[in-house]
Amino acid sequence: MIVVTGATGHLGKLVVEGLLEKLPADQVVAAVRTPEKAAGLAERGVEVRRADYTDPESLVTALKGADKVLLVSSSEVGRRAAQHQAVIEAAKEAGVRHLVYTSAPQATTSKLVLAPEHKATEELIEASGLAATILRNNWYNENYADTIKQAAATGSFVGSAGAGRVASATRADYAAAAVAVLTGEGHEGKIYELAGDVTWTNADLAAEIGKATGREITYIDLPADEHAKVLTQAGLPEPLVGFLVAIDGDIKDGLLAETTGDLRTLIGRPSTPIGVTVAEIAG
Ligand SMILES: NC(=O)c1ccc[n+]([C@@H]2O[C@H](COP(=O)([O-])OP(=O)(O)OC[C@H]3O[C@@H](n4cnc5c(N)ncnc54)[C@H](OP(=O)(O)O)[C@@H]3O)[C@@H](O)[C@H]2O)c1
Repeated sequence: MIVVTGATGHLGKLVVEGLLEKLPADQVVAAVRTPEKAAGLAERGVEVRRADYTDPESLVTALKGADKVLLVSSSEVGRRAAQHQAVIEAAKEAGVRHLVYTSAPQATTSKLVLAPEHKATEELIEASGLAATILRNNWYNENYADTIKQAAATGSFVGSAGAGRVASATRADYAAAAVAVLTGEGHEGKIYELAGDVTWTNADLAAEIGKATGREITYIDLPADEHAKVLTQAGLPEPLVGFLVAIDGDIKDGLLAETTGDLRTLIGRPSTPIGVTVAEIAG
């Protein structure tokens, strides 16, 4: 039996869908913070269990009887290491045979602003002695959905990533990789650097939005402090502004630029290019 945490989130939902294409519903458990949000899955025969990363008891119950668990990293940035620790401890207590975790590119060595919580989690997994697979997911194409819509409407977008390259892929690509690992053999002890096959810059993104909309789109590259000012003036909360500017700095430094072929190998097809996602959103 396979338990997927965060199964009401964007990625977790896609993983559950992918598992249901390969396995009977009674082999899949959706472990979720808010069971009411998973009513649709319950109707399809998927057992829904409450699993709140901040409630260790719920986690032990949720993981009971699981052969394999996909721990989808929490979205509560800043609180994730402790939350993931609770899941790892519960997995150990429940006798889980194989834990799979969604991490970040080169998490243990990267200066990426998001890396420390993933590094801490990978170290906790290692120390737990559980058989595990680490899926170090690069950026989602979908992270740019708002940028694409805004640029399509106004003809331009700003950033501070310079000519930094992004090796993104779609959530569906990463979900397919997770399904391949959860339903395949021989993935224990492996760390996969999952990234899109083709890297792109913000100038490339502008060109793709231009192609999809038939209008000229300009990428305006700003120094980090001016980028922050523009985001603040647009009404974004301060922590989000800091985060977005830091991420652009990381992209400028090439921290999301590595493409390894691991994703393509696991899913048995090329990753989805950013242009396809742009066309879906703005076409
Ligand atoms: N690679 C990337 O570009 C990228 C981008 C964004 C995020 N991420 C990471 O990848 C993860 C999955 O991405 P996503 O797009 O699926 O994010 P998402 O849609 O925000 O899903 C996050 C999931 O985490 C669950 N969660 C949050 N706090 C929890 C808690 N205390 N207990 C139990 N569950 C909790 C949420 O539950 P609810 O459904 O109840 O809210 C949700 O199901 C994110 O959480 C984040 O760690 C990666």
